[in-house]
Amino acid sequence: MTQTPVIPSEKLFAQVLDPTSRADPYPLYARLRQTPVSLQEDGTYVVSTYREINLLLHDPRISSDERKSAHPARTLDTPGGPNPPAFIFTDPPLHTLLRRQIMQQFTPQRIGGMQEHIEQAVNALLDARKQQHQFDLVQDFAYPLPVTIICRLLGVPTEDEPRFRGWSSALVRTLDPTESLSEAEKQHAVQSHTQLIAYMKQLSETRRAHPQDDLFSALVVGDSPDGRLSEPDLLATMVLLLIAGHETTVNLITNSMLALLRHPEVFERLRRNPDLAIATVEEMLRYDPPVQFRTRTTLADISIAGVSIPKGARVALLLASGSHDPARFVDPDRFWPEREENEHLGFGGSDHYCVGAPLARREGVVAVKALARRLQAPRLVTDPPPYRKNAALRGPEHLQIAFEHLN
Ligand code: HEM
Repeated sequence: MTQTPVIPSEKLFAQVLDPTSRADPYPLYARLRQTPVSLQEDGTYVVSTYREINLLLHDPRISSDERKSAHPARTLDTPGGPNPPAFIFTDPPLHTLLRRQIMQQFTPQRIGGMQEHIEQAVNALLDARKQQHQFDLVQDFAYPLPVTIICRLLGVPTEDEPRFRGWSSALVRTLDPTESLSEAEKQHAVQSHTQLIAYMKQLSETRRAHPQDDLFSALVVGDSPDGRLSEPDLLATMVLLLIAGHETTVNLITNSMLALLRHPEVFERLRRNPDLAIATVEEMLRYDPPVQFRTRTTLADISIAGVSIPKGARVALLLASGSHDPARFVDPDRFWPEREENEHLGFGGSDHYCVGAPLARREGVVAVKALARRLQAPRLVTDPPPYRKNAALRGPEHLQIAFEHLN
């Protein structure tokens, strides 16, 4: 009998990044939580418990700006680069100003106005599969839905998806620490970034000349008490919103169906009570979240959980691990939408809390409700499914679902 080798604690994060762990990183997180803050072999300080992650999310001595790091986690936005970083990679006061300028156009009315488009897109995608008895949930539904919606919100032509698909997927790879990327992947990411910025520049000129009722036009021509975004900041913001707007939600929808089909009793409760979709989506953001971790840099020496993290260190905040911390959640490894308390870290926390959370929730709820109602006797064809390489933005590459019929 072969024995599984015990992974030394300082190699656990490397194991999380390893693609062989992608289908189930949660046992690794449980081991990491034995030491809330642990120094890993590659010099990263990994923070894995809810309390400590939450403390650091609120700590001004922690930076999201890679330009302040001696060894940036990401390939892009390195010092002296031609483009400014998108606001997710900045700190106050710049972050506060950019975020405020964007939020002035990201109004509840604009997001509420997307509900009808979400419902239409969900129905159209499912209607197109009515003759089938099997589909790939990712390619046929969970990916095209958020692409359609974010394109509509921003004013990016959906027909351009074949152009930006490759650029976007090359860029999200860079959310994993740079050492886990091949040279080819790094080069592809840098080229993709340049191309995506050029694409947005072209689109901004069209929108400036012919403004439409979309977010891009509003940011290009709109006025706000804080003034208008500079052109480089506008382009960086559009790239961020386009990518963040679909590369995460695809995993929310896919992970939801995966969990529901693995837990038929929950699926049945949802079918009987469609309103459970709201709590189901919320539980997904805790139980198997699209964003597993985020990296930061320390701007000063920080003492936390008995560990001294020196200034300039790379810190990985394991959001997904924090949301499985038994010190914070009752029965954390149970998929349980009806749990009473669910203050998960799925959308982060504090200053950088997800701007798209209300939109992502809407899309998730409409999608899960429709899938539960319309798919008759669905079952997973392959379990576990194949996963994309990405560790930070983690989710299946395909999810084949067979069903008797689609209403
Ligand atoms: C930030 C998760 C959907 C736009 C974040 C953060 C997380 C997150 C964890 C915090 C990042 C950090 O602290 O460094 C998710 C998940 C989503 C989702 C799980 C879907 C299920 C969206 C959508 C949009 C969006 C639909 C756009 C419409 C953003 C932006 C930020 C952000 C712009 C940066 C905010 C800032 O730095 O101030 N998201 N997101 N996200 N998200 Fe999302």
